[in-house]
Amino acid sequence: MDQALAGLPRVHNPNVLVGFDTSDDAGVYRLSAECALVQTVDFFTPIVDDPYTFGAIAATNALSDVYAMGGRPITALSICAYPGKGNIDDLRDILRGGTDKIHEAGCVVLGGHSVNDDEIKFGYAVTGTVHPDRILTNAGARAGDALILTKRLGTGVIATALKRGIASDAHVQASIESMLTLNRAAADALDGLDCRGCTDITGFGFLGHARELAVASNVTLEIWPAAMRFLPGALDYAAAGAQPGGLKNNREFVESCVVALSSLPDEVEALLYDPQTAGGLLISIAELEAPEFLSRCPGAFRVGRVLPQGDKPIYLK
Ligand code: CO
Ligand code: CO
Ligand code: CO
Repeated sequence: MDQALAGLPRVHNPNVLVGFDTSDDAGVYRLSAECALVQTVDFFTPIVDDPYTFGAIAATNALSDVYAMGGRPITALSICAYPGKGNIDDLRDILRGGTDKIHEAGCVVLGGHSVNDDEIKFGYAVTGTVHPDRILTNAGARAGDALILTKRLGTGVIATALKRGIASDAHVQASIESMLTLNRAAADALDGLDCRGCTDITGFGFLGHARELAVASNVTLEIWPAAMRFLPGALDYAAAGAQPGGLKNNREFVESCVVALSSLPDEVEALLYDPQTAGGLLISIAELEAPEFLSRCPGAFRVGRVLPQGDKPIYLK
């Protein structure tokens, strides 16, 4: 994608506060001194069997990039690819699941577009607003900050275990609960705190997105694998080899940016590269304010700290 975008003509417009050249979560366009638009789009093929749940997860995932920029979603447009001969009740359930989740976020669906396609795909283009002074970007992490993650890792590994028929219902359910949790509460918990750096953990996995944050901010992230938390069952399934193709791609792409300062179990290392659907926020926050954020956001946990730029973007300690 980066290669394809590289040749495109660039328009220099002072109102483009975040454009496509910084691999951030969403674009940001200033409307006035007090208000900027945050715009993002995301859609994918079904990751669970239940149509309603799939729609709701697709919405949670699409909304996430707005929260990751410090914005709040206001409107959404659905994007749907569906077989012409497909089951209309299932399609209605997908749309209902999505719309319910969009409403839960205090956002409204204004419309959408669908195309005839043998492979189902669903998601949303979401528009939010943010105060131009309170945008959270990949470039905002500073040496001395604490690093906090707001959701456990493992949705990709658990989905793969499910496909192989080795995942327990309870583990699948816990993973679905996580994917259905909006990042709104985590974003709200940042209110009034000194945070500039944030991204959400999605397809590139924890280390892929951590690398983007480190590179854009010109810092090194010291990650503590022993402090990382995983969805129930994820470590066992990863150890049993239930690792999605995306995990291997992420590792190939990011590995050279990571230095392991001590040895860590293979399954822990694997999960650090696991592609997440509707993952949590990775937040870089002033060290002194980390305890306040953690007390406001139950479920969040500290995963490391930000160092001045070293020889690699990421150290695993
Ligand atoms: Co994102
Ligand atoms: Co995205
Ligand atoms: Co961001």
